[in-house]
Amino acid sequence: MRLDTRTTTDADAMYEALRARLADMVPDFELRHKAEVAAEVNRLKAERNAVVLGHNYMEAALFHSVCDYKGDSLQLSRLAAEAPGDPIVFCGVRFMAETAKILSPEKTVLLPTARGGCSLAESITGADVRRLRQKYPGVPVVTYVNTYADVKAETDVCCTSSNAVQVVESLESDQVIFLPDEFLALNVARETGKSITFPTLDPEMPQNGGDPNIHYDLVGWHGRCEVHEQFTTEDVVAVRRQFPDVMVLAHPECSPDVVEASDFVGSTSALIRSVQEADASRYLLLTECSMADNIVAENPDKEMVRLCSVRCPHMNQITLENVQNALLHNHYEVDVPEPARTRARASIERMLEISFGPR
Ligand code: 13P
Ligand code: SF4
Repeated sequence: MRLDTRTTTDADAMYEALRARLADMVPDFELRHKAEVAAEVNRLKAERNAVVLGHNYMEAALFHSVCDYKGDSLQLSRLAAEAPGDPIVFCGVRFMAETAKILSPEKTVLLPTARGGCSLAESITGADVRRLRQKYPGVPVVTYVNTYADVKAETDVCCTSSNAVQVVESLESDQVIFLPDEFLALNVARETGKSITFPTLDPEMPQNGGDPNIHYDLVGWHGRCEVHEQFTTEDVVAVRRQFPDVMVLAHPECSPDVVEASDFVGSTSALIRSVQEADASRYLLLTECSMADNIVAENPDKEMVRLCSVRCPHMNQITLENVQNALLHNHYEVDVPEPARTRARASIERMLEISFGPR
């Protein structure tokens, strides 16, 4: 029977299981150490009745050991509301842990780093959304989950990379404010054939991105993911020149030009599924680089083209070692005060209902 790495407290058995998957990518002495920490994390999990949720970007040793549930932002939002266990240890970034706390306020939610930011979440505040609402009265606001609770509190419906188009279309509104990712907004506009503007809210600045008298279907914001904005069409062209049979897969936080040059676009889990189901001779993933390692560990027959080592500086703060510390010292408890929590919850629940139906 295959060892369950999510529960075993046997460090030798954990080491053998990790070695079978990760021997080609993690040095042996490090695997030994990681296995010991992972076994101890499992012991602490059982002692505290904790559940560990892990985003697809987690480092390989963590991703393939103690995470009870793994997925993209949408899957993890749903799991945060439903997964048994308290505390929830969130292996991801702060906005994800906040979402878990918003949905499960009675539980302790731990983020294993004191930071864990996100350039998108930091690009906009609740006050910015209120000013946009004043400028576009009555227009519904859709906000990417990569935002903090004060922004979600001003939002009608949240969305993630896997349901952005579905959420916008479900509103059946002739105009939608879509925040804060400029590239995701442009990709949604491209996919739905909608026009888009990026207005400035600075009264000193000329109208940016279009005539105020023209009706635009979408109203966007200039937030960007500092990881995905690094990929360029030149990268794609160069790789295709060297490997004409490569399958190129992009996350929708990449620029529309990069998405256009790719063969597939989707959320992190959709990218994983697509690689698993395709039979290309090699794959180029235009997203955080640890995900390619995680795919190869489970699918050793898949060959990845390593374009870069673009790691998210926020996601990569989470390690097995600080998950252990989270369980030992309650590092770091996430709190979302009222009234923002209740207002933010409504916007997340509307999204879950659009994606999964009523609960
Ligand atoms: P997913 O929802 O596709 O997992 O994306 C989250 C994220 O932060 C991507 O950078
Ligand atoms: Fe934020 Fe980009 Fe990191 Fe995702 S990869 S958490 S969007 S900075």
